[in-house]
Amino acid sequence: MKRIICDSYEDMSRVAADIVEAQIACKPDSVLGLATGSTPLGLYEELVRRHRESGLNFSKVRSFNLDEYYPIGKDHPQSYNYYMNSNLFSKINIAAAYLPDGEADDPMSECKNYDAKIEEAGGIDLQVLGIGVNGHIGFNEPSVSYTITTHLTQLTESTLTANSRNFTDGEAQPETALTMGFGAIFGAKSILLLISGGNKAEVAKKLFDGKIHTDIPAALLHLHPDVTVILDKEAAGGISNLMIENAN
Ligand code: GLP
Repeated sequence: MKRIICDSYEDMSRVAADIVEAQIACKPDSVLGLATGSTPLGLYEELVRRHRESGLNFSKVRSFNLDEYYPIGKDHPQSYNYYMNSNLFSKINIAAAYLPDGEADDPMSECKNYDAKIEEAGGIDLQVLGIGVNGHIGFNEPSVSYTITTHLTQLTESTLTANSRNFTDGEAQPETALTMGFGAIFGAKSILLLISGGNKAEVAKKLFDGKIHTDIPAALLHLHPDVTVILDKEAAGGISNLMIENAN
């Protein structure tokens, strides 16, 4: 697991954009796995800027998002569909972009179809991940066992509390979600995990304490052969100079 510590959130977003851009340069028809939350917003902003100003071309790129609340309407301002459209998809020339359908009548068959679509696309080339304060990736919450396939999951109190900041008072917050499982995430050829902010410092520390904590879903990424973790200095606990090291 390669670790990059950046001085600022902006630097972290630029380094992440460099990695995404390099992926597309090497393979113009890349399949990207994408994440939501506040952390990748800077990355998406930078990708949009490079698309507009330097012609970064997404015309052959396809993407699959990690997760979506369930149930939620596509146009609900807190849906990940809405987030992705407003922050990225409507601003670039991406060939095709998929998210689990938060309005599906039959969530189980939606999950199966989603995995089938990822497989048909040849799997994910580069998976972008954020991390929950409890270590979740996508909506794979801490547990004694982890689901391989895309599935409907119950969100934990920690996640509901952390994400409640996005829902206004009185707005119903879904307590369940559809999320990619460990199969598609670990099937990605390479993985880019972004960790930003002081509230993630504790989980980041545990991620790099030399142990694989099985109650931190992100810690299992130590078992994947090609993972880059980029942290800003708040998440890294105050280490300020840009340093690249091998954390294993
Ligand atoms: C949600 C998403 C995750 C994301 C996490 C962290 O729960 N399902 O994919 O990584 O939020 O979000 P933030 O970056 O806002 O802390």
